[in-house]
Amino acid sequence: MIVCFNNQLLELSKVQISPFDRGFLFADGVYETIRTYNGKLFKIDAHLKRLKKSLNEIQIKYEGIAGLEKIIYQLAEVNNLTGKDFLVYIQITRGVSFPRKHSFPSLDEQPTIFISVSKLDENTVDQQKGVKVILHEDLRWLRCDIKSVSLLPAVLANQKAIESKAAEAILCRNDLITEGSHTNIFGINEGKVVTAPKSNLILAGITRDIVIDLCIKLKIKVEEEFIKLNELTKYEEFFITSATKEIYPVVQIDERIIGSGKPGVITKNLQNAFKEFTAVS
Ligand code: PDD
Repeated sequence: MIVCFNNQLLELSKVQISPFDRGFLFADGVYETIRTYNGKLFKIDAHLKRLKKSLNEIQIKYEGIAGLEKIIYQLAEVNNLTGKDFLVYIQITRGVSFPRKHSFPSLDEQPTIFISVSKLDENTVDQQKGVKVILHEDLRWLRCDIKSVSLLPAVLANQKAIESKAAEAILCRNDLITEGSHTNIFGINEGKVVTAPKSNLILAGITRDIVIDLCIKLKIKVEEEFIKLNELTKYEEFFITSATKEIYPVVQIDERIIGSGKPGVITKNLQNAFKEFTAVS
């Protein structure tokens, strides 16, 4: 497998990352996950804009954003993925800091950039049948709008879900349902689609934006407001979204079955509209 490390295409085994890299020491970095449809990077501009925002928010200076698209396609080519559907992982950290200290290293220190591409495995069964999720306390920091690599609370919550034979952990901050450990969540109440507003409490998912636009196009009522924990029972459908999952219907939350235990009508309409949208993108 060939990866890109600090602008060089290398065999994975040749990559050398310093243990003093701040990504390793402090989780001091940000990332993006992008996918292709029909071999073409999907919503690349939106992903690069979000990456730029994350970098700006944590004051990492990286001048190479404009060149990333070209590098990704080169990586796809050398990994025999051209024209196929693949997943891209980009991570940028603040670089090396020695001796270890919390404050930023000098401005001469370069960020560390790592990019990999891998074959995409679609989980069509979960998309068709829907998944169970669990509720979990949102233990993350108050800047969830930054796509930070500091993901331990999300990792622990998702692991709890897997141990409960569920696909995702839905996070609750006091009375508010914010999002999943690595997805956004939508509820449907009397035909109206509801999802948390963009704020410091959620990551502004690119898939989330597309779903909101599709609702408007399909004349389905849509509102950006928090789903409240104590009002969960009034929602007849739920679904979660992300670049890799697209739209997964939620058919069970903890021990409670949602609706008939099968994906709801509006969720299925949105899944179909999403498929049509990505087919022509
Ligand atoms: N996660 N919310 C969180 C906390 C996420 O980590 C993600 C994405 C999303 C969905 O964003 P998008 O629609 O842009 O993929 C929402 C990626 C897939 C990850 O961590 O690998």
